Amino acid sequence: MEKILTGLQPTGSITLGNYIGSIRQVVEYQDKYDSYIFIADMHSITVPQDPKELKERIRSLVNIYLACGIDPNKNKIFIQSENEFHANISWLLECSTYYGELSRMTQFKDKSKKSQNFTSGLLTYPVLMAADILAYDVDYVPVGIDQKQHVELARDIAERFNKKYGETFKMPQPLIAKEGTKITDLQDPTKKMSKSAENKKGVIMLLDDLDVIRKKIMSAATDSEMLVKYDPENKPGISNLINIYISLTGKTIEEAEKEFEGCNYGTFKKQVADVVIEFVSGVQERYNALQNSNEVDKILDAGRDYTRPIAKAKFEDMRKKMGLGR
Ligand code: TYM
Repeated sequence: MEKILTGLQPTGSITLGNYIGSIRQVVEYQDKYDSYIFIADMHSITVPQDPKELKERIRSLVNIYLACGIDPNKNKIFIQSENEFHANISWLLECSTYYGELSRMTQFKDKSKKSQNFTSGLLTYPVLMAADILAYDVDYVPVGIDQKQHVELARDIAERFNKKYGETFKMPQPLIAKEGTKITDLQDPTKKMSKSAENKKGVIMLLDDLDVIRKKIMSAATDSEMLVKYDPENKPGISNLINIYISLTGKTIEEAEKEFEGCNYGTFKKQVADVVIEFVSGVQERYNALQNSNEVDKILDAGRDYTRPIAKAKFEDMRKKMGLGR
């Protein structure tokens, strides 16, 4: 069975963009692939975090995954920092990665602009991501388009390492969903819907109040035409709402365009809001039940115990090939 692996950072609340760009795919793939999912808590500390809040968010995130339909019997679910071999592998890979490559990464360029005093972890972040992926010889990495560049870097690093030290890593491929890949901000549809956005009016959180979600969708930015047509370049707001709609209903763009032919934007938005709210209310119900149980600890212990020996074996293999230790 082919393998997939993906990670989510426990920063802020989970957005509809995270669900559509990542979690949804993993739910679909769990029957088809040997699936690994982890909480990238070590990636989150590349920017300042409050320790108490971080701990709460980690548990909450696992429960969100489960509430969204991730089946613990079909996935290895674990926390990155509970498997120390990720960081160990990352260091060995850092020494096969060039500063130039890292400083050219789009996400690094964007994030480093925001603060004059950013950490070196922000720069080396993609190498830890490469370690996450390469430790398990995965075939595919389901990610949103914003992470594609990082998966490509993981391939470059793997190829370089294999050439220098002999065949060690399998070449992973990014797996990007065809439709609804990039969900954008409802207020500024040229930007991705991001949990770190300053204006939360454009961002739908899975744990948002249902009324708040409806308001956010009803006040989404559109355009001055009265035409529900998929055209991301000229109609980014409407195209984003179509993306959300088709992702949650399984319809095609053509079907959605036909359904809303002649509709005004108010009616269209109301339909989108209904679909989103139906989905989110189910997630919230399951989430609340999980938050009140200790099911999650058993799942995370099992995930940690399963993945540690695999990552350890990869680390030992690399160490040996690189001439480290005795
Ligand atoms: P993160 O936590 O920023 O996002 C998690 C996943 O959600 C996708 N995503 C989106 N997709 C569509 N539209 C959006 N608006 C949107 N926002 C987020 C992201 O592409 C991602 O797939 N570095 C990663 C976490 C990570 C990882 C890994 C992923 C660490 N190691 C190894 C895969 C493999 C990150 O920060 O994702």
